[in-house]
Parts: sequence; C-alpha cells; structure tokens
Amino acid sequence: MLNWNIRSTQSTPSSNAETATAEKAYIDTLMSEEIGFFRLPENTELIAETKKVFEEMKHKKYFIHIGIGGSALGPDMLLKALGIKSGVKFVFLNNIDPDDMKRSLDKVNLKEAMIYVVSKSGTTAETVAAMSIMMSELKKVGVTENDYRDYFVFCTDPEKGDLRKLQKEWNVRTLNIPSNVGGRYSVFTPVGLLPAMFAGIDAQALLDGAREIKKHLSDPSACGEFFALARWIKELHDKGVRQTVLMPYSSLLKEFSAWFVQLWAESLGKESKGLTPIPAYGATDQHSQMQLFMEGPADKVLFMIEVEKFESDFELQSPLNFESFKTLAPFKLSQLMKAEFEGTLAALSENNRHVVHMRIPTLNESHLGQIILFSECLTVLVGRLLKVDPFNQPGVEAGKKYAYAWLKSAGK
Ligand code: PA5
Repeated sequence: MLNWNIRSTQSTPSSNAETATAEKAYIDTLMSEEIGFFRLPENTELIAETKKVFEEMKHKKYFIHIGIGGSALGPDMLLKALGIKSGVKFVFLNNIDPDDMKRSLDKVNLKEAMIYVVSKSGTTAETVAAMSIMMSELKKVGVTENDYRDYFVFCTDPEKGDLRKLQKEWNVRTLNIPSNVGGRYSVFTPVGLLPAMFAGIDAQALLDGAREIKKHLSDPSACGEFFALARWIKELHDKGVRQTVLMPYSSLLKEFSAWFVQLWAESLGKESKGLTPIPAYGATDQHSQMQLFMEGPADKVLFMIEVEKFESDFELQSPLNFESFKTLAPFKLSQLMKAEFEGTLAALSENNRHVVHMRIPTLNESHLGQIILFSECLTVLVGRLLKVDPFNQPGVEAGKKYAYAWLKSAGK
C-alpha cells in the first residue's frame, strides 16, 4: 500500500474550526452526486462497456489517441508507467505542431489503425483539428464516412457536445465520460481504461488498487494523517511556500509528474492562489534541478516518491580497476538508486527543506491506482482548504475563447 511521511521543520498544524469546515466540505464533495471521480473505482458499468469496445476493436495494430489536457495526460501516464505489454503501437496526437503531426502519422498504417477521439466537451480546437486531419488522411487511403465505424471510437460526455452529435450521424462506437467527472479527474473512465486495455494493462487491477486506498482518503476516523498533510501544505502556502516539486525516483513515473502538474495547476491555481507544480524525476534531476531545490529559495514542498522494489535489476560488477567502478561493483543498480534517494533525502533535511517521503512497494497497476486517487483527493482537499473550486478552469476557457476569436478575425 502507498504510504507517506512528512520530513520538515514545519510541524503539522492541528485542526481548527476553519480547517474542520474545509475537511467536512471535502468529505461532502466525495459523497456528492455532482462530483463523480471518487466513485469511479467501483463503476462496473464503465469498465464493462470499455471491455466490449476493446473486444470488438482489438484486432487493430495501431492505436491513435487524439485528445489534449485531461483527455491525454492520464492515458499517456498509464502507458509509460506500466508499459505496453501488447504488440499494439500507440501514437498520441496531443498537440497541434504540424511537423510532429507529420512524423507521428508517418509511423502509422492507417488501414490498421483505430482512432480514439477523446474530448469531454467534444469541441476542443486541438482535438477537432487532429480529427479533421485524420478524416483527410483516411480519404487518401480510400476510407470514407461509410467505413468510419471501423476506424473511429469516440469518448465524450454522455449527452452534450459535437462528438455526441456526430456519433449518431456516423454510428461510431462511443464511450462515456460521466458528466460529473472533469477531464483531469477522468483517468479511471474509458479515457484511460481503453488505451490501458489495448496496452495489455490490467485495468481492473488499477481500479481495485484505487479502491483499497479509499478508506484512508475518505473515512474521517481513518484519514487523520491525510488531513494533516493537506493542512501542512496549506500552512506552508500561507507562509509563501508555493511551489510543489513532484519527484519520483523512477523514469517510468516521469509522465506521472506531467499528469500531476495539470491536476495540481489547473485545480488550485485561481483567485491569485495556488501552488506551482514542478515536474522532476530522480536520479536524473539530481544533475539538473536539485541544486535549486537544495540551496535555492526554501519556497518548495518536495514530494519524493520511492519505488521500493523494481521489477528488474542489474549487477554493477566490473573488471575495471578505477575507484569509481570498484565502489559500485558490489552493488546492484536498484541499490544505487536507493543510495541516491536516501542521500538526497538526508541532504534535503539538513538544508531544512520541506519534504514528503512517499513510498510504493512496486510499480504495478494496484499501486499506481492508489497514487492516482491519493493525488486527486489531495488536490480536492487542498482546494477546499484554499477555498478555491478544484473542478473548474476559467483561465483555460478564456484562452480557448480568444483563440477562436482570433481565428474569426483572421477572416477565413
Ligand atoms: O481538465 C480539464 O478539464 C481540461 O484540461 C480538459 O481535459 C482539456 O481542456 C480538454 O478538454 P476536452 O476533454 O473537453 O477536449
């Protein structure tokens, strides 16, 4: 099971009337019908409908994932963390860089591809653009609207949006993102589940893992430590510690940091409040950002994530007689990672940095499910303590609106 402890000179503040109100608001949120992410691990319907689509489309050799933000970061994170265990080749069209688009499409045999268009709103410009390009590309290889059911699968709001309308017109398979689940909280919906199934990841184990940790995040009698962690983050925020470093000691969790960045930034950064997320990963970033984390401004909380046991390992023995090689020779690669992790933790403590030491026993479906739900819940709880709405993103919406206005004024 995931566990964590705080290492800091700043003690965890005890609960007071204000924080108790915020904690109650958090529990109410988890139980409310308007917000659905917390109940996703038990949602048997969603996984069943995803499995059905998977069974019908699993002959495809290429999986083209079109989506952006919450519609892409979650699935990308799952695939990178747990690996692609099937032979399916994945392409993520999650940006509108024309050169990258060309390179990505050059890798694909469209006739053997499934195109998964993911958009909660069904109107996002980047996603619509990629879909239009796919339609033109399909036409070039002789695929027309009549055949779209064999190529496209949609994932969108159950009722609203252009994709939902188009689904009826084209008769393409369409999976639901429940209307009470927002983009960045949607990785346990078909947004993440379908790519996971195509990759050979055990989607059910991911949900089961998340279910196991729910009690520690939602039962007030069992989640004292969790509440204390959030109160500590809020206390530090109010004292000007407003940057959050997420640093797993695992290359495979690099995209987990990218996913967390969106969750934390988009949920909490509003009304002149918020915590700036900084993605990092060890040991690599010890040779990059760590100098700043260690001796720069003490305005950061560092979440240091340790994977206690790696699936693979390598001996570091060597016939070379140099001191550097001889020092490492009795050890394994995982032991070097452990040494660097422990060494960095000790040095951070010595420098009075604010650290949360998180541990997962191994990187598998179950533990990844736990750390995902933990991150989502922590975001919501910190949002309640900061008194911001962790589920909206008015700043993003404004940018979208002005981009469309710019296109209209460009006059085509
Ligand atoms: O978390 C969010 O809600 C956003 O990041 C969205 O996921 C992103 O803007 C894409 O929106 P949509 O899924 O509607 O295409």
